Amino acid sequence: MKAIQYHRFGPPIVMKYEEAPIPLIKSGEVLVKVHYVSVNPKDCFLRMGKYKVISGTRFPQFLGSDLVGEVVATKNLPAAYPFKEGDRVYGMLPSLKVGSYAEYVRMKAKHLGHIPSQMAYREAAAIPLVGLTALQALRDLGQVQAGQSVFINGASGGVGTAGIQIAKVLGAEVTTTSSWRNLELCAQLGASQAIDYTKTSIDQLNGSFDVFFDAYGNQTLDKVRHLLTPNGRYVTTIPSLANFAQHALTCLNAQKSKVVAVKASGKDMDQLSEWIRAGKLHAVIDREFAIADVPDAHAYIQTKRARGKVILRVI
Ligand SMILES: NC(=O)c1ccc[n+]([C@@H]2O[C@H](COP(=O)([O-])OP(=O)(O)OC[C@H]3O[C@@H](n4cnc5c(N)ncnc54)[C@H](OP(=O)(O)O)[C@@H]3O)[C@@H](O)[C@H]2O)c1
Repeated sequence: MKAIQYHRFGPPIVMKYEEAPIPLIKSGEVLVKVHYVSVNPKDCFLRMGKYKVISGTRFPQFLGSDLVGEVVATKNLPAAYPFKEGDRVYGMLPSLKVGSYAEYVRMKAKHLGHIPSQMAYREAAAIPLVGLTALQALRDLGQVQAGQSVFINGASGGVGTAGIQIAKVLGAEVTTTSSWRNLELCAQLGASQAIDYTKTSIDQLNGSFDVFFDAYGNQTLDKVRHLLTPNGRYVTTIPSLANFAQHALTCLNAQKSKVVAVKASGKDMDQLSEWIRAGKLHAVIDREFAIADVPDAHAYIQTKRARGKVILRVI
């Protein structure tokens, strides 16, 4: 099979589509023939060598965290995960694993969900990593309840577009920030108020939000405190030392700062599927590239201008 590999850290051109062995599955695992994968900012950071603590420095290195495809083999699956050959599946690899930019990927069955029948593989590719991130940030860390108000900063990217829709399903009223180019997109996805951050900065705003979800990641609890209720929660996507420190410092406070670290979960994929079936969660795809053109896809993600997801077509 072929997989995207790189033999040194560097710019997008270091990635090559090269031969690699088809993975051997172990007990409890599924072999997936990949149809599409999505591109996430993390893939660019890994390729540039910014996460050497996680990636190590041995080459070749592989890339990619989420995938959609069909099951081609299974091994000793527990009764709770009855996947079989031909099933259409999607999901995310556990955070410290990569390698979904490939023709075949082995996955633990417990990390996969079934793609709803009305959703094409292409659309499904826009869901796993960003859908899980937004779900776990809003439901688990933000503890969003029906009737609450949620502010989403940087709402037009992959995480933000999933976040608007999920906050709405959880019953919240949503306010967003994006540049002027994406105000209409945010409103279409469910924002009752869409603010252009190029005209109005966060410190000029007033409000009383239960949750501030910093999907883009350029705010802090201190910068947005004036927008939170006394028990409000700030949730960020940026796993920096400063943000973990702020999390620890606010553990016992009424206003809390939280850092989402997305976890692979078949159960959460099933929740996302349920909302897709009910017509409450939709894929937002900006651009599609063939997998061999992954350098162009990474160059585009690095512009930080993606509206929703960038996906790679594998077959
Ligand atoms: N911790 C975790 O588990 C986890 C999981 C997933 C993602 N992340 C992180 O979350 C961040 C967002 O990921 P993503 O996939 O959503 O990225 P993305 O899709 O590449 O985000 C692109 C969006 O960012 C917006 N943007 C650019 N500059 C902005 C600014 N100054 N203020 C507000 N928005 C701005 C753009 O909107 P405009 O063009 O309208 O400005 C664009 O729509 C990344 O840093 C990623 O690494 C973390």
